[in-house]
Amino acid sequence: MTDLFTPIKLGRNELRNRIVMAPLTRNRAGEGNVPQPLNVKYYEQRASAGLIITEATPISEMGHGYPATPGIHSDAQVGGWKQVVDAVHAKGGRIFLQLWQVGRISHPSLLPGNALPVAPSAIKPAGQAFTYTGLQDFVTPRALATEEIPGLIDDFRKAAENALAAGFDGVEVHGANGYLLDQFLRDSTNRRTDQYGGSIANRTRLLLEVVSAVSKVWGSDRVGVRISPINPFNDIRDSHPQALFNHVADALGPFGLAYLHVVEVGLSDEAPQEFDFDELRRAYRGNYIANGGYDKARGNAAIASGHADCVAYGMPFIANPDLVERFRIDAPLNPADPSTFYGGTDKGYTDYPAIA
Ligand code: PHB
Repeated sequence: MTDLFTPIKLGRNELRNRIVMAPLTRNRAGEGNVPQPLNVKYYEQRASAGLIITEATPISEMGHGYPATPGIHSDAQVGGWKQVVDAVHAKGGRIFLQLWQVGRISHPSLLPGNALPVAPSAIKPAGQAFTYTGLQDFVTPRALATEEIPGLIDDFRKAAENALAAGFDGVEVHGANGYLLDQFLRDSTNRRTDQYGGSIANRTRLLLEVVSAVSKVWGSDRVGVRISPINPFNDIRDSHPQALFNHVADALGPFGLAYLHVVEVGLSDEAPQEFDFDELRRAYRGNYIANGGYDKARGNAAIASGHADCVAYGMPFIANPDLVERFRIDAPLNPADPSTFYGGTDKGYTDYPAIA
């Protein structure tokens, strides 16, 4: 029987199991947003995952939206990530870097020259940004000019080249959770009148152009894409999510990607929209990673039914570096402490115990 422990080939990479570590923002990068030895230890502890997807990683100075998130746009950052990758590889693990541009979910104080955040349209998100001086109200972002889009795509391409130089096994394009590519996809945030706005095909265009550029660097069989069709997190929604994301899944199929990674839940208190994830799965011809509140039993059931090829776990991996072994022997899981999720020291980061 196929289950979480059955090896799988995702594009060019062989995984030892189908238990994926989801991307998790932890805000513990060193000076210059460079990965540091503490981060190496954290990822190394979790190397028994079939695949690690790194925390969301800004592709450029303009891609940052939170303090202490490790980037992939400077030589020092490439060097820092190389230490992470080498440690994971030494333990037989596989690791993809998640390419992130936050768009409007940022603040001038986090951007070069106090720049305004960029977005498809000048629509201010509700809520507040996490800055180095605490929470501050979001500002109205600047709408990207059509002529600026090639430069943005080039930022993704350069970051993909940097990830290749750091030795990663692949990259995941972050098209989820209300950040820049998702802001282009969904009609609450995209009111453009050029070829990147309006119809579903137009709103999907930027994602496809980014995937195409990144695939030229990596080969599409080492590129994944993450989407979150019903997640209202970061003040985002779409009037027809099923039609939009069925189109996205259908359009990504011909690339022959390593996988499509789908956040199947909402990460806020807002009531989720109706959505049929089995229909989305059928629209996508390729490997499907499911994410969102799965435990071992539901993960195995999703794989046995053919709904998913792999399952990504977030919170359980924060608190259980040896989650794979715990699932294998049905050991109890450590509870995660939300007070240490974002920022801080080794406490709540590298000090969760493995079973003896
Ligand atoms: C967060 O920092 O809360 C965060 C970052 C990236 C995501 C989701 C949440 O995709």
